[in-house]
Amino acid sequence: MVTKLVVLLLIFLLFQFSSSAKQVTYNVLSFGAKSNGRSDSKSAFLKAWVLACASTNPAIIYVPKGRYLIASPLTFSGQVCKTKAITFKIDGTLVAPSSYNAISKAEVWIKFYRTNRVTISGGTLDAQGASLWACKSTGKSCPKGATTLGFYHSQNIVINSLRSLNSQMFHIQLYACKNAKLQGVSISAPGLSPNTDGIHLSSSTGVTILNSKIATGDDCISIGPGNSNLWIEKVVCGPGHGISIGSLGWDVQEAGVQNVTVNTVTFIGSDNGLRIKTWARRSNGFVRNVVFQHATMVNVKNPILIDANYCPDAGNCPNQVSGVKISNVVYEDIHGTSATRVAVKFDCSRGKPCTDIRLKDVDLKYGGQPAVSSCAYAAGSAHGILRPTSCL
Ligand SMILES: *[C@@H]1O[C@H](CO)[C@@H](O)[C@H](O)[C@H]1NC(C)=O
Repeated sequence: MVTKLVVLLLIFLLFQFSSSAKQVTYNVLSFGAKSNGRSDSKSAFLKAWVLACASTNPAIIYVPKGRYLIASPLTFSGQVCKTKAITFKIDGTLVAPSSYNAISKAEVWIKFYRTNRVTISGGTLDAQGASLWACKSTGKSCPKGATTLGFYHSQNIVINSLRSLNSQMFHIQLYACKNAKLQGVSISAPGLSPNTDGIHLSSSTGVTILNSKIATGDDCISIGPGNSNLWIEKVVCGPGHGISIGSLGWDVQEAGVQNVTVNTVTFIGSDNGLRIKTWARRSNGFVRNVVFQHATMVNVKNPILIDANYCPDAGNCPNQVSGVKISNVVYEDIHGTSATRVAVKFDCSRGKPCTDIRLKDVDLKYGGQPAVSSCAYAAGSAHGILRPTSCL
């Protein structure tokens, strides 16, 4: 009798579990999306989102093969969602209009706002940024441009095997997000396209970026103020400006950056490798507890760089020094080739010298000649293989 009751209870629980986990799928074609790349499919995507968001079951928004024009900026707002999770399963390409005006005045082309448990799996985003870059190259006044994909104030984000092409501005941006995992992401824009950062993080925590390939005209990954607990592993960068912590220290009151690990990355022909960059301005910001580990440099202009005197437009930094405190930064097993003689450069702030900079097993070559290192206001220690010789 008792065992019978237990069995019944188990069956009941199993049923409850399986029915609550049942997924519902919304195919964008059912809401009027067209895969011809010419008819605006924005409203179809929004209709699918509204239903997925209202569903009490985990929902899938499915985008079949084909090209889908998203002709104006699109926001998926998660504020009133009932669902526990929404997955975009994308086999096709979302494409922006080729003339830049349609999206360039917005901050983001495809925006997620206050979402929880959104996954993007597969697909391509093609922002067709070339017309805006052309405008910018004439020196005329042009709009700043839109980030291709942005998550704002969102949590538990997964981005899997997504491809992003030719953004107007950044390719992917996370702002004020918590717990995100990006993997197998592929980002591509020409080396001379302006401000097309691959992944830009700000005010976010718990972000992991794995197994990704980034080629852009600006930073492959840029880490702005207020980020913590970042893990970056197996990323290939180039062309581009490298992986940068910064620019920091623009504002007087600014949140710091801490606990960042960059592990097993390769830079190919990039302007920088591992860079920390702060404006030469007053600020109470900081960078601490950073580990750069197992990096391969292939013909990189500045493989290891701290630039605390960044001030491209002299007007921005009237005879100031950076107030950003940089401490506890580890460089371990960094090897390969430098495209310039100075392979290691710590150009720290006179007002807030760098402290506890640690080098271990750094082996960087420059052509047939020895590379050199250069230090200003930098203190720390060095161990193991040190080519070039440490100046700490
Ligand atoms: C640092 O970040 C990692 C994730 O990248 C996390 O697992 C770890 O707990 C963090 N450490 C501290 C002290 O917050």
